[in-house]
Amino acid sequence: MLKIKKIQASETWELRHQVMAPNRPFDSIKLAKDEMGLHFGLFKDDKLISVISLFIENDNAQFRKFATEISEQGKGYGSILLSYIIEESIKNNVKNLWCNARMTALSFYQKFDFKAVSETWMENEIEYIKMQRDL
Ligand SMILES: CC(C)(COP(=O)(O)OP(=O)(O)OC[C@H]1O[C@@H](n2cnc3c(N)ncnc32)[C@H](O)[C@@H]1OP(=O)(O)O)[C@@H](O)C(=O)NCCC(=O)NCCS
Repeated sequence: MLKIKKIQASETWELRHQVMAPNRPFDSIKLAKDEMGLHFGLFKDDKLISVISLFIENDNAQFRKFATEISEQGKGYGSILLSYIIEESIKNNVKNLWCNARMTALSFYQKFDFKAVSETWMENEIEYIKMQRDL
């Protein structure tokens, strides 16, 4: 059974670390602004398998640290969670939703109508591009 719930920032940290930065120190995946974000988790049979964090500033919102457990990737769970935070953003009167996307996720976000709006840049050997979508 699948369920999406609002969770605490601290509940996202383990998945963020495992999926996004397993070779870096645990604390590297914590965000200075974590306490100001809304955090959502997708649970499969009560096990947390995908997380995403949403930071709303007026009518503009950034989502960050989107991660699905490695063995559960490519099964549609990320799409369910991303669709949920798009709806959540609309409910919060967000007009512009954006993220700094890993280039490896570019085509995934394009399916959700996000458009690349920057040059690419490198950070910790990962290539990123800013993507955004009007809501
Ligand atoms: C990006 C991410 C959160 C998407 O979550 P997910 O649960 O894999 O998402 P979905 O299964 O709904 O969709 C994955 C899509 O990306 C592709 N994909 C990404 N990773 C994949 C994998 N390991 N295996 C298969 N397909 C993968 C597929 O093409 C799929 O597209 P489809 O809709 O045509 O099938 C997840 O792949 C992930 O955690 N990646 C590593 C961390 C990361 O890059 N985060 C995003 C930073 S911007």
